[in-house]
Amino acid sequence: MSETAALAELAKRRGFFFASNGAYGGTAGFYTYGPEGAALKRNIEDAWRDLFVRKLGNVELEAPTVMPEAVFEASGHLDGFDDMIVECAECGATHRADHLVEDAVPDIEDAEALGTDRVGELIAEHDVVCPSCEAELADAPVDEFNLMFGTNIGPGSASPGYLRPETAQGIFVEFPRLKEYARNQLPFGVAQIGRAYRNEISPRRALVRVREFTQAELEHFIDPERDEPPIDRVADVELPLYPATAQHADDGEPEPHTVREALDDGIVGSEWVAYYLGRAMEFYERIGIDMDRFRYRQHLSGERAHYAADCWDAETELGGNWIEVTGFAYRSDYDLSKHGEYAEESFTIFRQYEEPRTVERAAVDPDMSYLGPEFGGEAAAIAEALEALAARDRSAFDGDEVGVNIDGETYTIPVKKTGFAVEEQTEAGEHITPHVVEPSFGVDRLVYSVLIHGLEADTVDGEERSFLELSPTMAPTTVAVFPLMTKDGLDDRARSIADRLRVEGFEVSYDDTGNIGRRYRRQDEVGTPYCVTVDYETKEDDTVTVRERDSTEQTRVQIEDLPDAIGRLVAGETLSEL
Ligand code: ATP
Ligand code: GLY
Repeated sequence: MSETAALAELAKRRGFFFASNGAYGGTAGFYTYGPEGAALKRNIEDAWRDLFVRKLGNVELEAPTVMPEAVFEASGHLDGFDDMIVECAECGATHRADHLVEDAVPDIEDAEALGTDRVGELIAEHDVVCPSCEAELADAPVDEFNLMFGTNIGPGSASPGYLRPETAQGIFVEFPRLKEYARNQLPFGVAQIGRAYRNEISPRRALVRVREFTQAELEHFIDPERDEPPIDRVADVELPLYPATAQHADDGEPEPHTVREALDDGIVGSEWVAYYLGRAMEFYERIGIDMDRFRYRQHLSGERAHYAADCWDAETELGGNWIEVTGFAYRSDYDLSKHGEYAEESFTIFRQYEEPRTVERAAVDPDMSYLGPEFGGEAAAIAEALEALAARDRSAFDGDEVGVNIDGETYTIPVKKTGFAVEEQTEAGEHITPHVVEPSFGVDRLVYSVLIHGLEADTVDGEERSFLELSPTMAPTTVAVFPLMTKDGLDDRARSIADRLRVEGFEVSYDDTGNIGRRYRRQDEVGTPYCVTVDYETKEDDTVTVRERDSTEQTRVQIEDLPDAIGRLVAGETLSEL
């Protein structure tokens, strides 16, 4: 059985995740996390919070998932958030056209970058057929399909809205308030963990491509001219980089480079992106990604999102496919500029000069007693146009007359009636639009990667065993407590030990069903790193057996020392060190 099939079976049977709404035939692209999966996901989110919010001194917010259409008009999602779709004329099924080409043509890894026309040609050239009914797709048109789920806000259709396709927009639209919270000082980071929605054309590979998923995103607002990341903090961290040049080369492979080398050699263009690539390594290692199945891949030029200036993806290898788990994008001032253009508030921040500066400003003070009688209803618009022209091109006022163009008509005004003057002003600073650096993590793909990379099998006492090698801090249960028998007071003793460990803050499960070997296997399968067994010796000397999942080794520990012992094991000590 492939590892993805093995995980799908385990995930459903043991309550990690399963397709939602099964009782109603299921809904493609939606998954429910069972108790084990929900706990693992929460632990991964907590690790992210610890590293990207708490340790970096950032803040976290929680914004609504439905946003009005105007937000997505400004952000570019309404026009540009499309995937390529091809519809089978025979059975009506729809498919991601670029993915069909990637599956059919081994040399093409990123068909989206080729554009709809070329993808249509490739479908015809390679005789691509509909995966649902096997009819030829050669004549089916390839179109763009917007991935946002639309809705109406309130009754009627007067206020269209969309489920957010990325959590980021909930942060950007609140920038006017967030900058005040940050006391108008750059840089500052705002994070959010929450749901995002995309009406994916072909949801597939379990949690990898779903229609509702969780993102953990950090939007770091910076002054591009003044703020630098603390690169020394990560300079020596080694990154497995797969740059665009290597992807184009026939034998190109990811190669390790330290953050410093990546910047010095120009492999990563942005210091901020390099900084976050470095910081994120600690996170992937902490949650249990197999770093031999991990790489950072640079986006090819046609692949970048509409807002991204430089972009790298963290990818994990799952069942032979490389899957994006995080996007690291230098979004420049794209988002804040756009919202500044479309919205009614200011999306800039005041940057103080080191020393106040004296500048010359050209301004007008039009004589309205002349403009009014002369131009009637156009007078106010002419005054506004003169003001804009003075700021833009003061030489236009050099002669005796100046012309302004309003809706295709030119109006000529004597310069002496414009009140044109150049004045000296002292300015303390200027308004700038901050740039944004964004690491965007897909939590579901991380959960899936951690599970697939954690799947292990071995033989114990001549019997095949499968187990999940989850890190003790990520595992849904840290310690399982068993009584050897449910008699002679062993079960009462085991229950009270379980309660004590819960009070100490551990995630504990209690199990007294089936033989002891079976109970160990059950815990091994869900990745519980430690099991504690209460047996007859416990009654004599107040000790219990502690068994370690991966090695299956056991040792005896005094009950009173148990919380301390489990704490030390979780922190990295081994059984022999207890
Ligand atoms: P892909 O190319 O695989 O569709 P993307 O480039 O659209 O991904 P981004 O827009 O960069 O992804 O989104 C940021 C992160 O959100 C991704 O790295 C991924 O982990 C997660 N993500 C995006 N789309 C989905 C989805 N449909 N299901 C699960 N996670 C997703
Ligand atoms: N915020 C990055 C993305 O979801 O596209």
